Amino acid sequence: MQNLQKKLNYYSYKYYTLQNPIISDQKFDYLMLVLRKLEKKNNDFIQSDSPTQKVGSNLLPFLKSISHITPMLSIKNIFELKDLLNFERKIKHKLALKKNINFCCELKLDGLAVSLLYKKGILIQATTRGNGINGENVTKNARTICNLPLKLNNTNVPPKLEVRGEVVILKKDFAILNNNLSIQGKKTFSNARNAASGSLRIKKTSKTNKRKLMFFAYYCNLFNLENKYNSQFQRLKKLQNLGFSINENYILLNKINKIYKFYNAISSKKNNLNVEIDGIVIKVDNIKYQKKLGNTITYPHWAIAFKFYSKKYITKITSVSFQVGRTGTITPVAHFNPVNIDGAIITKASLYNKNNMLKFNISTGDFAEIKRAGEVIPKITNIIHQSMKLNKKIHFPKICPSCSSDIIDNKSKKISKCTGTLICSSQKQKTLEYFVSKFGLNIFGLGPSIIKKLIQNHLINDISDFFYLTQDNLLKISGIEKKYAKNVIYAIKKSKKVSLHTFLCSLGIPNIARSSALKISSFFLSLKKIKNASIQDFFQIKNIGKKTAKNMFYFFKNNKKLISKLEKVLQIENTLVKFKKFRINFFKNKHIVFTGSFKTMKRQKAVKNVLSFGCKNISNYISKKTNLLICGENCGRKIKQAELFKIKILKEKKFVLICKKYSKINTTSIL
Ligand code: IVH
Repeated sequence: MQNLQKKLNYYSYKYYTLQNPIISDQKFDYLMLVLRKLEKKNNDFIQSDSPTQKVGSNLLPFLKSISHITPMLSIKNIFELKDLLNFERKIKHKLALKKNINFCCELKLDGLAVSLLYKKGILIQATTRGNGINGENVTKNARTICNLPLKLNNTNVPPKLEVRGEVVILKKDFAILNNNLSIQGKKTFSNARNAASGSLRIKKTSKTNKRKLMFFAYYCNLFNLENKYNSQFQRLKKLQNLGFSINENYILLNKINKIYKFYNAISSKKNNLNVEIDGIVIKVDNIKYQKKLGNTITYPHWAIAFKFYSKKYITKITSVSFQVGRTGTITPVAHFNPVNIDGAIITKASLYNKNNMLKFNISTGDFAEIKRAGEVIPKITNIIHQSMKLNKKIHFPKICPSCSSDIIDNKSKKISKCTGTLICSSQKQKTLEYFVSKFGLNIFGLGPSIIKKLIQNHLINDISDFFYLTQDNLLKISGIEKKYAKNVIYAIKKSKKVSLHTFLCSLGIPNIARSSALKISSFFLSLKKIKNASIQDFFQIKNIGKKTAKNMFYFFKNNKKLISKLEKVLQIENTLVKFKKFRINFFKNKHIVFTGSFKTMKRQKAVKNVLSFGCKNISNYISKKTNLLICGENCGRKIKQAELFKIKILKEKKFVLICKKYSKINTTSIL
């Protein structure tokens, strides 16, 4: 804690006093959050000089210090939806309210907070926030801000008025300013906020005058007119009416899911706004409620800043490997020094394709900026190059790292493929792995390392060879015990009886996953018909595209020998009944998410069922499109998310009942 306090105080000093930040805002916010959490757990150790105990800044010596009429508070930052839910929950609890309450949601402008004092409609004083109690007198300079009213031209002007808002410099004006500074050989500003702050907190007013500063109001104290305007939303309108500029993106919302939507909408359009923002501010709209809720010494309980926060991590790249996929696609993968992202140790991230890799121009020893896209897959967003002398530039291979066959690119260089097919050991290994995986026949005990050893020992060469394996064969492989070997052989034997659509899936034909396999098998009903089908035949199936049709046709044309070998050892069950038309509508065209553990039906079966009942998509994550959540036991936050977004939830028991009913109608042996 002490270490963090020391660091943060130093960063604050560099940021506020010297206006020369040395770490990113995101990092600062993050460290502050860590410190707050530590302090919460270890209350007794909070130091009076901890950065969490004061609002900000030391004061610049040439600006006179004046005390604020009412303390100028900061706002607590949050970064995640769950914190927003918590914010609302606490407020409702404190106010002892069950009904929804209105929140005034505004943009969080990224500039310099300034407090203005008007008496009888005349600007008397402008103060920076300072430490929240005392601020710097910037009245002279503030008078030069072009849209800041010096006199309020309105009949209904309160005798005393305190207005707070943000002094900013618009993005376009910031670009011009920095351009001019660099032409003059002067130091440029690192961002628009520093430019605004540096332009206002300056000795020479004539300089401020030249900088195009703007003031946007977001808060006011009306003193004896307090009760007349008892909502934040109303007050913003009143401020507008008095002649202040208000950023027009403010809205009154009373549900968290709507606020979250607003947050996401603003987040996606923030780059197109003319002013820098770093989040949204959510305020309890009712001023009486605000008063009831009160403040801590640093921030109010009635407002929160929901900041845009994409976690970024920086680590050193140690190497790039090139993985050969089942179909020969070469994927470059960057390996780096381990980084701990939310508790998961990440050591590598895909570079997707040749084009993307070349764009980054990577050398070993370079640094990678890593983000977790959608909190799951690590993604490299930027490469920070080191001196070229020390590093080794990474080149995309011309020949397959596995079999040395030529690599060919498609036009866009998005797909580079090994041309080795059958002779490529990587492709062979991946094809064999896929065949026995849960996407294929789902055979127990045959993991990648055993498959590798089986290939090395010439015990398997193609997928049909699995069915000729004996217990003795397996025992030849080091590390395999008798009982394990017995179980594997039993599992292989059991898997020989297979439905047509599972068989189609197991072959690993590009584009053929469960849903397309089901469509194809329920159209042709037998393998015999599939073998004899033309591209056109495949193409006439509803929702089967040209690419899939071609892939099916060529696979069966080029692998006749393999298929007949498989037919000899397998018992492929024809599909019983066409489910051309789905008579049931409940699952039809739905975007479904499964969660929790299923007791009465295996998850795989459940997936198979909904696919056969015409569902459109199955995903692991709740998104905008999701319209049904099917849950087993021990479900986590997905239920809460679904409730929040009003997504229909179906419990396992009911789901199984519906499945049984529907499968009877369809007369297929789905369950
Ligand atoms: S309300 C008592 N509204 O964010 C709450 N602040 O980190 C008073 N800010 O100090 C502030 N946009 O400089 C409020 N729409 C907005 C804002 C906003 C930016 C700044 C302000 C504040 C800081 C908190």
